[in-house]
Amino acid sequence: MRGLVYNGPYDVTVHDVPDARVEAPTDAVVRITTTNICGSDLHMYEGRTDVEKGKVLGHENMGIVEEVGDAVGTVRVGDRVSLPFNIACGACDNCEKGLTAFCLRANPGQAGAAYGYASMGPYDGGQAERLRVPWADFNCLTLPPGTEHELDYTMLSDIFPTGWHGVELAKMRPGESVAIWGAGPVGLLAAHSARIMGASEVYVVDNQHTDRLELAEKAGATPIDRSKGDPIAQITDLHGGEVDRGVDAVGYQAHNPDGEEQPEIVLNELVHAVKATGGIGVVGVYLPEDPGAANELAKEGKLAFDYGTFFFKGQSMGTGQCNTKNYNARLRDLITAGRAEPGFLVSHELPLEQAAHGYDQFDKRVEGWTKVVLHPGQAA
Ligand SMILES: NC(=O)c1ccc[n+]([C@@H]2O[C@H](COP(=O)([O-])OP(=O)(O)OC[C@H]3O[C@@H](n4cnc5c(N)ncnc54)[C@H](O)[C@@H]3O)[C@@H](O)[C@H]2O)c1
Ligand SMILES: [Zn+2]
Ligand SMILES: [Zn+2]
Repeated sequence: MRGLVYNGPYDVTVHDVPDARVEAPTDAVVRITTTNICGSDLHMYEGRTDVEKGKVLGHENMGIVEEVGDAVGTVRVGDRVSLPFNIACGACDNCEKGLTAFCLRANPGQAGAAYGYASMGPYDGGQAERLRVPWADFNCLTLPPGTEHELDYTMLSDIFPTGWHGVELAKMRPGESVAIWGAGPVGLLAAHSARIMGASEVYVVDNQHTDRLELAEKAGATPIDRSKGDPIAQITDLHGGEVDRGVDAVGYQAHNPDGEEQPEIVLNELVHAVKATGGIGVVGVYLPEDPGAANELAKEGKLAFDYGTFFFKGQSMGTGQCNTKNYNARLRDLITAGRAEPGFLVSHELPLEQAAHGYDQFDKRVEGWTKVVLHPGQAA
C-alpha cells in the first residue's frame, strides 16, 4: 500500500510501505477515506521531535472498516468510522476514568499512545491507504453511512475535540468571555466550540495571518492581530478588562510576528489577559526536551513562566493531550444535527500522492492554506 513516510527534517515522501493488517484478534483494518495534516505533524516535519525515520505519519484518520479480528464484536466490515488520534486500551485505570490520552497499556512505560507520532508508541499513521486500529471496538467511532459531512466528521479524530478540550480545561461556563491564542486549526475549532458552549465573547489572537484571522471572524470571534500591537491591550480595550478564560492553541513553537521563537510568550500573555481566579486551558503542545529550542532553558523543556502573577491571580490551568473519546460521540451528533460545522476551515483537499506538497505549504503557513485533508482514494 502507499503511505507518507518521514525521511528527515522537511523531507516526507509517499511510497510503498508494508500493508496494514490485523495483528491481534482485537484489531481492525480501516481503508482511509480522509486523513488530515495537523499542526502537530509540523513539529515532526520540522525536525523538532525525536520521531524515527521511516515512520508513516498521520493521526487524524477516518474511513471504512475493511477487516476485523476474531475478537472484534461491535465494529463491522463496511462501517464508516472516525479514529481518535489517541490509541487506548479501554480497560486500564486511566481509560476507565475517560483519560484515554493517558492510556497505561498502549505504550508501555509511558502514558499515552497515538498513530504516527513521536514518542507515542510503535504505531504507524493513517496518511496511507490503510490503517491498523488496535482495540477496535473501543477506538472506532461509528458514523452515519455514506459520504455526507466528510469534511466535518474528519475533524472528530483530533482538532474538534482538542479545541473543545481547551475550552473545557479553561473551565468556561455559558456567558463567559474567552481569549484563544493561535488561529491555526486547533484555535479556530476552540473558537467554534466556545461559541457552541455559550461564550458571550470570543477573541482569537495570531500573528498577521489574515486568512486565519478572517476564519476566526467567520466563526463568530473577534480577531486580534498581534503584529498591530500588544494583544493583551487590544483585548482589554475591546472587552473593557480582562477575560474570564484563556486557551493556548499555539504550543512550544510560539513566536513573535518576526518569526523569533519565544516559547513562554503565549502562557505569559494568557496569565495577564485572564482575570484573577480565571482559568487557562493549554492544548498547544510543550515537550520535556527540545534540543532545537531558541534558548538554553527551553532546550531542557523549561520555560520562564510568570508563576508569581499566576499564583497572585489565583488562576488555574489545565494541560495535556485531548482525551478525544470523551467528546467525539457528542461532537459527531452536533455535526449530524447541523449544530456544528468544523469543516469550515478546510482549504485544500489533495490526493495522498500530493501530501508532500501539502506539508510544504501548510508548514510555511502560505496564505490560504488553513487545513489540508488528504484522500488516499482520490486519483493523483
Ligand atoms: N493537546 C492536544 O491534544 C493537541 C492536539 C492537536 C494539536 N495540538 C497542538 O496544538 C497546537 C496548534 O495546532 P494547529 O494544528 O492549530 O497548528 P498551527 O501550527 O497550524 O497553528 C498555530 C498557530 O499559532 C500561531 N502563533 C504562533 N505564535 C503565536 C503567538 N505568539 N501568538 C498567537 N499566535 C501564534 C501561528 O501563526 C499559527 O497560526 C500545536 O502545538 C499542536 O501540536 C495539541
Ligand atoms: Zn492532530
Ligand atoms: Zn488504557
